[in-house]
Amino acid sequence: MRNKIIAGNWKMNTLVQDGLAWLSDFKQLGACGHPDATLLLFPPFTHLHAMQDAANQQGIFLGAQNCASASSGAYTGEVSAEMIKSTGATHVLVGHSERRQYYGETESTLQQKLQRVWENGLVPVYCVGETLEQRETGRARDVIASQLHGALGLWKGKLPGPLILAYEPVWAIGTGKTATQDQAQEMHAFIRMEMQELFGKETAAHLPILYGGSVKPDNAKSLFSAPDIDGGLIGGASLKPKDFWDILAGTEA
Ligand code: PGA
Repeated sequence: MRNKIIAGNWKMNTLVQDGLAWLSDFKQLGACGHPDATLLLFPPFTHLHAMQDAANQQGIFLGAQNCASASSGAYTGEVSAEMIKSTGATHVLVGHSERRQYYGETESTLQQKLQRVWENGLVPVYCVGETLEQRETGRARDVIASQLHGALGLWKGKLPGPLILAYEPVWAIGTGKTATQDQAQEMHAFIRMEMQELFGKETAAHLPILYGGSVKPDNAKSLFSAPDIDGGLIGGASLKPKDFWDILAGTEA
C-alpha cells in the first residue's frame, strides 16, 4: 500500500505573512496529525524558514519550488539545494512545466538539479506532462517517456534516494480542465511501467505518483481512488486552506 501524498504548489503567490496565516487557518480546520496522507507545501523560497516551525507542529512538510543546478558559487539570484535544506525544508519540485516552458529547463539541467537534491538528502518531486498539442498528435507517451528517461536514466538500475513523481498534463494546469480519472490512471500506469523498466518492479511498485492539473475539492476523490494515483499536486486550490482541507478529505476511503 502506498500512502497518499497531498501537496500544494503556491507558485509565485502569497507573502510570508499570508503563509503564516494559511497555516493557522489550516490548523483551525482540525488538520493536526491527519492519519491518511502526507501533507506537503511548496511556498515561495522566501517563506520556507519563517513557516518551518508552524508547519512542523502540524506535521506538514515544506519544500521549494525549484533549486539551482550548481552546488554553490557565482550564480547571482540562484538558490542551492543546500540553502533549501538549511531552512528545514525537505522536498524540492524539479521540472515543473512552468519551469520547462518559461525558463527553458531541459532534461539535462533537471538531471543536475535532481543530483543536487539527492546529494543534500532532500526528496525531489519530479514533474512530467505533455502539452495539448502533443496529446492531440498522439505523442503524449513518447514525451513522458523521454522526460523520465532523460532526467532519470543516469541512475538506471538504482535510484540514489527517495523520489516522488507528479504527472501534470500541461493542458490541465490552471485551466480548470482536469484529466478524467481514466485519462490520468492510464498515464500513471504507463509512468509506473516506464519506472519499472528503469528501476525494477519493486521500486516502481512503491513509487508515489501524484496527479496535478486543476485538482479541486469536487474532483479529488474520484482521481485519488484510481489505483495508480497516489495523491495530488495542487496549485490554485491549495491557496485556500479550506479547499486544501476538502481535497485532503478526498483521500479518505
Ligand atoms: P493547478 O496547478 O492545480 O492550479 O492546475 C497545478 C500545478 O501547476 O502544480
